[in-house]
Amino acid sequence: MVLSSDYIKNGAKSIFVANVKGGVGKSTLTIMLARALATKMRPEKITVIDTDLQRTTTEFLSASNPEINIEFLPITAAFENTNISLVQQFIKQNMFKTGHVVIIDTPAGTSQRLWNLVGESYCVLIPTSLSNADLAPTESFIRSMDKVKARYQQIYPHLVVCPNRIPFGQKDYSVMAKRLNNHDVVIGPAIRDLASVRHFYNGKTTEMNNQSSNAYEDFSQFGDFIDKFVLKGELDKIYNDESHLAMNIVPFEKKLNSKK
Ligand SMILES: Nc1ncnc2c1ncn2[C@@H]1O[C@H](COP(=O)(O)OP(=O)(O)O)[C@@H](O)[C@H]1O
Ligand SMILES: [Mg+2]
Repeated sequence: MVLSSDYIKNGAKSIFVANVKGGVGKSTLTIMLARALATKMRPEKITVIDTDLQRTTTEFLSASNPEINIEFLPITAAFENTNISLVQQFIKQNMFKTGHVVIIDTPAGTSQRLWNLVGESYCVLIPTSLSNADLAPTESFIRSMDKVKARYQQIYPHLVVCPNRIPFGQKDYSVMAKRLNNHDVVIGPAIRDLASVRHFYNGKTTEMNNQSSNAYEDFSQFGDFIDKFVLKGELDKIYNDESHLAMNIVPFEKKLNSKK
């Protein structure tokens, strides 16, 4: 299955949230992105597929936002083939639904079959902190994704690195930018290290509804970014413009902020 441009323009977009590294914020990003998008589009048009046996995403999202479609299809050793096929079918069926988005949360670890499926998607969000313990495996993950892109000779999936758990006040991403310099990736808006994220996991789901909270600010900015650059096709435009080849990384963080 290679993405045809017609599907991409009109049909549902599949966004995987993935990284070989665990604990980097995949589930958090999936949950908060779905919630942020639900304020911008009809929630019925959003489907979240939770493929992690831990069920974090399913539990929290079904409690906080039951209006969003949630599918639980754990990709474990025992169910790997069956559930990867089901996820694939699900994405295919949704491709024909105009304006839909399918967000797939994935478990940590390596499964070649899963990475092949991720390689067929529209966009991959790759959360990571700036610590070397997270950046090193993230970099090798990106390298292997880049190889898949090269094999298909296409601009998809768009690889978006999402800096997560960034200390308050940190403005310098040059360490990350330097490390990812040779890869064809985009750096999305940063999400800070937020106490309210931890509260959310402790069952205080209302915490995230506080309009004035830092979490609201960061995740709505992140949702705006995904809406504009991924769902509305801004990244397609940039990648289809030959001049983008001059650089590997587009620091959208700066561009987005400077517009405000
Ligand atoms: N921006 C953030 N601020 C504070 N804590 C965070 C943030 N993102 C994730 N966490 C915490 O880090 C832990 C791992 O996050 P999780 O989303 O479960 O990672 P993954 O799905 O990649 O394993 C969770 O306890 C979560 O509360
Ligand atoms: Mg998870």
